Amino acid sequence: MSVQVDLLLKEIGQLVTLAPPAGTPQGAPWRGPLSELATISDAALAVHEGRIVDLGPAAEVAARVQATREVSAGGGLVLPGFVDPHTHLPWLGSREAEFELRLAGKSYAEIAKAGGGIRSTTRSVRGASVDQLTEAALPRLDRMLSCGTTTAEAKSGYGLALAAERTQLEAIRALDSRHAIDLVATNLAAHEIPDEHRADRGRWLDLLCEELLPDLAGLAEFCDVFCEDHVFTVPESRRILSRAKELGYGLKIHADEIVPTGGAELAVELGAVSADHLACTGQAGIAALAASETVAVLLPGTSFYLRKSDHAPGRAMIDAGVAVALATDLNPGSSLTESLPMILTLACLQCGLTPAEALRAATLNAACAIGRGAEIGSLEVGKQADFVVWDAPNWRYLPTHFGVSLVRAVYKRGALVFNAEAAA
Ligand code: NIG
Ligand code: FE
Repeated sequence: MSVQVDLLLKEIGQLVTLAPPAGTPQGAPWRGPLSELATISDAALAVHEGRIVDLGPAAEVAARVQATREVSAGGGLVLPGFVDPHTHLPWLGSREAEFELRLAGKSYAEIAKAGGGIRSTTRSVRGASVDQLTEAALPRLDRMLSCGTTTAEAKSGYGLALAAERTQLEAIRALDSRHAIDLVATNLAAHEIPDEHRADRGRWLDLLCEELLPDLAGLAEFCDVFCEDHVFTVPESRRILSRAKELGYGLKIHADEIVPTGGAELAVELGAVSADHLACTGQAGIAALAASETVAVLLPGTSFYLRKSDHAPGRAMIDAGVAVALATDLNPGSSLTESLPMILTLACLQCGLTPAEALRAATLNAACAIGRGAEIGSLEVGKQADFVVWDAPNWRYLPTHFGVSLVRAVYKRGALVFNAEAAA
């Protein structure tokens, strides 16, 4: 007797499930060096009510299911939808002048100290409405989808005052309901010291802990801090994140991006779900991460875009047993890209990941970095049917061909949400 299903995706040239080795607990990341991925050729995938109900060699699946609708993958490669676990999605304005300042030799920190950087975007975001922020971010989500992303994290952090941070988080909520990409919200009010508190940063820390974190707790699942030499110190970050933990937020941290500060160790100490950037993390930080549940989210687009010579030590991390994920860090100043495929290429070239490790890092491990590893990130029976058909002969090819999107079609909960032919 065959099972009735809503959709059968057939004629899959190569299906790569990214399912972790047997014995990996549900929702846990997949660690250790990896150079091969299990594949199924001439495969099919069956979906019912938005979930994967069967997959395998096409002839076997066809014998087990009766589909209301059949769709051909045209011999393409099928992978889980990408998960982007670190973006600064809602903003207004643009900062192309900073790009040229960096070409002329100025550093990100110098530009930030002179009033540029995050604070310049804050000037554009303050006073904006939820609608304005939403409309500005929708095309970014469209570009992310066209590059194969089906779920993303999105941070506030350009308001730097209660009302403006709330507006950003409300825009993230509106975007989540209006767009096919699922969003997970993070409160990053602790992104910078706003201009009006430069002279009394203690007051800003008090406001964060007493007002911005508690008042916005209902709008964000995670809380993040920019722990960096010119922003929040490790003790300040500890205070903010400890308060966030008390309030029920999951924790994230921008750590060791520009100089090593011990931010990775702080993430582990506090049980953060992820520690992000880590371009300058040393042996002690790697060892701490390896012995923890905290996922290291590498952002090679940022070191590339800021012309840094320090690249996150991805190879050493994976060899030491750290769970490694990848993200775009999409933002107007330090990594203006929606493309996770581009990030895969950079992760291989700059951080020493293998293509298999890079794909794992943008799927299952990225899902784990936002607490969604049991639902998405791999193609397994029972999981959400978020998958992408690629115009590529095999998975190894993806990081090899850079700077363009090879996405043919994107499915979210089994529904077609992007079709490259229709978009052309
Ligand atoms: O992740 N590092 C802090 N925040 C962003 C930069 C944001 C900006 O420059 O606007 C980042 O790189
Ligand atoms: Fe960031």
